[in-house]
Amino acid sequence: MRAAQLHDHWNAASAAYYVLHTDRASTPSRDEALRWREAHPHLYDQFLTLTEEAYRAASAARHHAWAPYSRFPVGAALLATDGSIWNGCNVECSSYGLTLCAERVALGHAVTNGRRSFVVLVLVTDTEAPISPCGACRQLLHDFSPGLLIVAEGTRSNRRALWWLAELLPAPFSGKDIWQR
Ligand code: THU
Repeated sequence: MRAAQLHDHWNAASAAYYVLHTDRASTPSRDEALRWREAHPHLYDQFLTLTEEAYRAASAARHHAWAPYSRFPVGAALLATDGSIWNGCNVECSSYGLTLCAERVALGHAVTNGRRSFVVLVLVTDTEAPISPCGACRQLLHDFSPGLLIVAEGTRSNRRALWWLAELLPAPFSGKDIWQR
């Protein structure tokens, strides 16, 4: 089996999105994504395996969260386009506003190791409902990977939510807005 390439990751992410959202109406992009999955079961499985690995990395990170003020541990992991996985946990501060979200710690971890392009962000919290990234983190993630797929799980229900970052941050600000001047 050949190793998944960049475009395979995007096709697989798209298929996974529609597999979860079985309620979505049929559109050309949905039908194309599901056809791709039928034609490339091994590549789709590779993607699911990597996403589960990222889930485990996020889940492990959450056990190291430093959250004495909120008592709300969060684990995050970014799956980079080369298949590597970078995790992070939230790090709180007695001066509350200095708190770092798990997503930003994971992003710093990845960038420090030379990764700047990501396919999936996994978020794990000990809640019933999965959480979505805060507004500030949405912006930071968008600067690096506007096409990111976000998978969030609340461990108390094992319920998973899937969103495209673009769904969570429509009409984003970006570097292009600065360079247009
Ligand atoms: N937090 C995250 O780490 N990620 C999010 O997406 C939402 C919030 C953290 C920040 C703080 O340590 C705690 O959760 C409560 O807000």
